[in-house]
Amino acid sequence: MIGLAVLLPLALVWLRRLGPEWFRRRMTVVAILVGLQGTVGWYMVKSGLVDVPWVSPYRLALHLGLAVSLFGLLTLTALRLRDGVLRAPFSRGLPRQASLTSLALFSQIILGAFVAGLDAGMTYNTFPLMDGDFIPAEMRALEPSLRHYLENIASVQFLHRWWAFAVAALVIVLAVRVWQSAADATTRRLALALCGGVASQITLGIFTLLWVVPIGPAALHQAVAVALFGLCVWLNYRLSPQKIPARAPDLISVNPSTAPAL
Ligand code: HEM
Repeated sequence: MIGLAVLLPLALVWLRRLGPEWFRRRMTVVAILVGLQGTVGWYMVKSGLVDVPWVSPYRLALHLGLAVSLFGLLTLTALRLRDGVLRAPFSRGLPRQASLTSLALFSQIILGAFVAGLDAGMTYNTFPLMDGDFIPAEMRALEPSLRHYLENIASVQFLHRWWAFAVAALVIVLAVRVWQSAADATTRRLALALCGGVASQITLGIFTLLWVVPIGPAALHQAVAVALFGLCVWLNYRLSPQKIPARAPDLISVNPSTAPAL
């Protein structure tokens, strides 16, 4: 169904030459990625789901990571179509910090896939301590290697619960800098919404854990993660200086129908 929902409009876009050239090319890339997503989904399902509802956490993380990336690309495409070309009046530091924050959030989402993939939310259902310790004994016994940390229930849960606070710290610092800058009202509101969103997501994550992962809160936790990533991409878009033609008018927003072709 999703394949059809992408391919039919794509055919129309090319046949009728709808939208600017970059948009037609972008939608072709999206269609290819949707095809790839289907293939990755098949590759993931192949790793399990025959007798037990289990798939490889690595493949689950790949599948979720690609889905979230596709969502980010579509969000950027929609923003560029809607707003045209934005010229953001910021120094390099702010866009860089926004990219770093998105990367941290993305890695938290991938860690979440490992938590879900290993069913790691079914144990250590206390917060902030895990089995009475800050660092659970099971994790302390591990040989320090990334593979061991990603394949162990205790360490995966530990990383996911505490990396969330690192993400929150990055989001707060970014928001403070956005508010101190010359950012417009939309960008400021976006930064604020991201702070509120991350705080709600952390609360929701803690309750999902304490209630031993009921399907409703767990599904909401996943949906909020994607929405937060969308907000982050949007904020990045507003903070990053876009590619604009050398002698373009010095405007904050250029209407795509009147803007010179890129
Ligand atoms: C920035 C904050 C956070 C983000 C973006 C985030 C994101 C995610 C994502 C994307 C998943 C995977 C969902 C799935 O594929 O089914 C997940 C799973 C999970 N997260 Fe979080 N999370 C955050 C914070 C937390 C915190 C603070 C906790 C608890 C202390 C937590 C507990 C869980 C649990 C228990 C699961 C497993 C749910 C399941 O098995 O379906 N999360 N998280």
